[in-house]
Amino acid sequence: MKIAVIIGTRPEIIKMAPVIDEMEQRNVEYVLIHTGQHYDHEMSNQFFLDLELRKPDYNIGVGSGSHGEQTADMIKGIEKVLLAENPDLVLVQGDTNAVLSGAIVASKLHIPVGHVEAGLRSYDKSMPEEINREIADVCSKMYFVPTEESAINLLFAGINPKDIFITGNTVVDACMRNLKIATKKLDTSLEITAGENILALTMHRAENVDNPQRLQNIIDALIELNEFTIIFPAHPRTIKNLKKFNLLEKLENAEHIKLIKPIGYLDFLVLLSNSKFVMTDSGGIQEEAITLNVPCITLRYNTERPETVKAGGNILVGAEKDKMIDTVKKILSDQNLYDKMSEAKNPYGEGDSSKKILDSIFKLYDENKLKITVPDDIMKVKSRKILKIKENIDVAEFEKKNKGTTVKMVFEKSNVLYPYDYLNLKDKTVLIDVLKEK
Ligand code: UD1
Ligand code: UDP
Repeated sequence: MKIAVIIGTRPEIIKMAPVIDEMEQRNVEYVLIHTGQHYDHEMSNQFFLDLELRKPDYNIGVGSGSHGEQTADMIKGIEKVLLAENPDLVLVQGDTNAVLSGAIVASKLHIPVGHVEAGLRSYDKSMPEEINREIADVCSKMYFVPTEESAINLLFAGINPKDIFITGNTVVDACMRNLKIATKKLDTSLEITAGENILALTMHRAENVDNPQRLQNIIDALIELNEFTIIFPAHPRTIKNLKKFNLLEKLENAEHIKLIKPIGYLDFLVLLSNSKFVMTDSGGIQEEAITLNVPCITLRYNTERPETVKAGGNILVGAEKDKMIDTVKKILSDQNLYDKMSEAKNPYGEGDSSKKILDSIFKLYDENKLKITVPDDIMKVKSRKILKIKENIDVAEFEKKNKGTTVKMVFEKSNVLYPYDYLNLKDKTVLIDVLKEK
């Protein structure tokens, strides 16, 4: 089997690294395709060094540009590579333009797509990432979702539960594998003093940093939060906009704020694990914070990681100055609340997601099901039904007994349950697909 892995930005490199490691360990043939969306040393190369990844086999070199321009260049470049390499599977990760482009190209070439970290939803179509996720869903064959909640999101999008694999998030694998290495690494460029009141800060979301008013509100709050040393490795998009909106000097003049270049993954793990709080609009950092027991304050009004909020480790404050300051002060003055946030249970798995992903891929491949073909049942008629089940029967038995039936959703009172094969259906309501001869 040959797998093509598409990456393009910092978080994709970090979260795909454990999958690549797992392929290396299993001697799987793979090609690594970098779209070149992130290209500065500290946004790309640094992670290949930190995570000991081999150089990409291809770098399409799209660079920065408008969404249309960047996506069009990726589509053209990825198509050429996939035609030359003819892989059995294409893996994409997350919700960037690489996911959108890779998924479209591969599916049109009838190459199955495996979407790592599928099923996330912010339900906010003004975010480019939400559009990318939804389009990737249409094009994918295997959906590797981090949690049951994200799996249920896909059921509502009409995805067949047989194509969904609940694996946890590979970010936990990455955190666990690298934190030990990171803490042993002596040459960290960060000067962190033990016991220092550190607040780690990152922001780069278009809705925050491209909007001068929102960016100004956030900066004003940070300036007032002077009981902390705020360490702020700034994304290039943020630096560009701080300059554009004349906010850079204001930030640099605040003595307690250390504005630095983006740092490598090992350094970031050291920073995060030594911080009292993290304040961020990053997706990956919300996940890493709950993995490393660091309370997270998210500079957004919604999150596609609601599990972190439900677990109690993450609070959304949007971009309101007062809300940012009041929330930090409230947590600081309530040790019980701080402890609860720190101890919130990580919902993203045990650090074995990449193993589960590879196991699922091999199972399908060995069963000769990793193919895009015309369905055998194309001439059959599909109908949907809702049934109340009285029998003591699980999903797998029910489907075996009722040939041509797939249990798509299960409801119990007001709850939606994921249709695991072993789920007992007694006294539950099911939504089923039934295939019948015409
Ligand atoms: C992209 C992803 C976003 C992800 C983020 C991770 C999309 C639509 N967005 O956003 O989902 O959270 O990566 O960091 O795919 N720049 C540089 N050097 C670089 C890269 C970017 O200077 O190496 C600057 C350029 O001015 C560029 C701007 O940053 O215009 C934004 O970069 P871009 O890749 O378009 O989007 P991100 O904000 O990085
Ligand atoms: N990160 C890093 N150095 C930094 C900032 C972030 O290594 O200076 C890592 C962080 O640990 C996380 C990932 O980058 O794994 C998150 O990337 P980003 O916030 O750019 O993207 P998102 O997750 O929001 O898509």
